[in-house]
Amino acid sequence: MRNLLMTGLIVLPAVLLAQTAPAGNADNGKRLFMEKNCYYCHGTTGQGGRDGARLTNTALNADGLIRYVRKPAGAMPAYTEKLISDQELRDVHAYLKSLPAAKAPKDIPLLNQMSER
Ligand code: HEC
Repeated sequence: MRNLLMTGLIVLPAVLLAQTAPAGNADNGKRLFMEKNCYYCHGTTGQGGRDGARLTNTALNADGLIRYVRKPAGAMPAYTEKLISDQELRDVHAYLKSLPAAKAPKDIPLLNQMSER
């Protein structure tokens, strides 16, 4: 009985954590987006900037994004696997997909989460 209780105490938090973590890690993607300088051209939240395309509403899936970043079509510099790995780009993709394109702040879950903390 005691063992059963202990198992529950360990398993339950793990299950809860697994449910809140998205498939591609959007939080890590957000960090990478800044660290790898994507923000410099695409804006701090992928909104697009002076030089880069808007990314929040990209039609590319994760594989398409990886292909594009390895071999961009236009003015964007290519990123090799040394600079950013495929898995890291999947995280960046998850981050971009987590960003609603041009919604009111109250409709952006991330912002609401921050004000609840
Ligand atoms: C020096 C500026 C610059 C940097 C840094 C940069 N980009 Fe770009 N990116 C561009 C430009 C400009 C375009 C528009 C098309 C082109 O010229 O290649 C673009 C296009 C894209 C596209 C295609 C969008 C679409 O929907 O067709 C993706 C995806 C993308 N960038 C992702 C990234 C990611 C991820 C990073 C960081 C790892 C990054 N970019 C860093 C300038 C940049």
